[in-house]
Amino acid sequence: MMMTSTAPHRPLSVDDLRRACVAARFGQDIRYFESVTSTNTVAHQLAIEEAAEGTVVIAETQSLGRGRLGRAWASPAYRNLYLSLVLRPPIPIACAPQVGLAAGLAVAETAREWAEAAAIKWPNDVLVRGRKTAGILTEMEAADAGVRFIVLGIGVNLNSAVEDFPPELRDKAISLCSAAGAPVDRVRFAARLLSQLEQRYDLFLREGFAAIRPLWEGLSCLTGRYVQIEDGGEQCAGVVSGLDGDGALRLRQPGGQEIRVVTGDVTVIGGYE
Ligand code: BTN
Repeated sequence: MMMTSTAPHRPLSVDDLRRACVAARFGQDIRYFESVTSTNTVAHQLAIEEAAEGTVVIAETQSLGRGRLGRAWASPAYRNLYLSLVLRPPIPIACAPQVGLAAGLAVAETAREWAEAAAIKWPNDVLVRGRKTAGILTEMEAADAGVRFIVLGIGVNLNSAVEDFPPELRDKAISLCSAAGAPVDRVRFAARLLSQLEQRYDLFLREGFAAIRPLWEGLSCLTGRYVQIEDGGEQCAGVVSGLDGDGALRLRQPGGQEIRVVTGDVTVIGGYE
């Protein structure tokens, strides 16, 4: 169902969100802004100043919202969720992408409480019926061979109407409101998301990526699909067979050979139908 922007959009109540997060680790410290360049930039600065793990930055709008692969993230005010979370996982640098995958799982699981068709597109987009509803930008600061901190930047299209998206995205993006057919309470969504992120992050730290992988694969919309992957001018194609033990995407090429993909932009050939 397509929604139009007739409902008034109001600031979210950060006091309500703080109350909802009172018993959790993530969200003990929530910094709320009307407008920032990017919540990731603010969270990065806070992390450098030793902000605790679980510190959250939320803004109503971003003037320079960033997406993966150097793209912009459209951030219309009062409609959606633009959130960054400071994490300090005691892991080697090579495992940092797995934190992003665990977060993608948590975002998809939360989105499914509103729209059951929500699924994950590797590495960590969340789609509903082939259209993007959420994305994650993971930025890491290293210390020696380990991770000093990770800023997990999450953008979720909650209440955007079709005309809120830039014209070139209107057939590629969808809000949870349009998918569910009813406005999404942003505080309720943010509270559920932070709780699920904490749960999946803790599982990852306790049991490793092996515990996340089957849950992630259970929500993947790519398995069995023929895809093309573009990475810095290089391309490859094949049928997705699943995730490797470290989170790389496994592709079966036309000749039967299996390859691993660690970065890139995935396009499903022939769409999701
Ligand atoms: C993607 O390209 O899919 C990732 C999008 C990530 C957007 C979020 S919105 C909150 C945080 N701040 C940013 O500037 N980007 C992330």
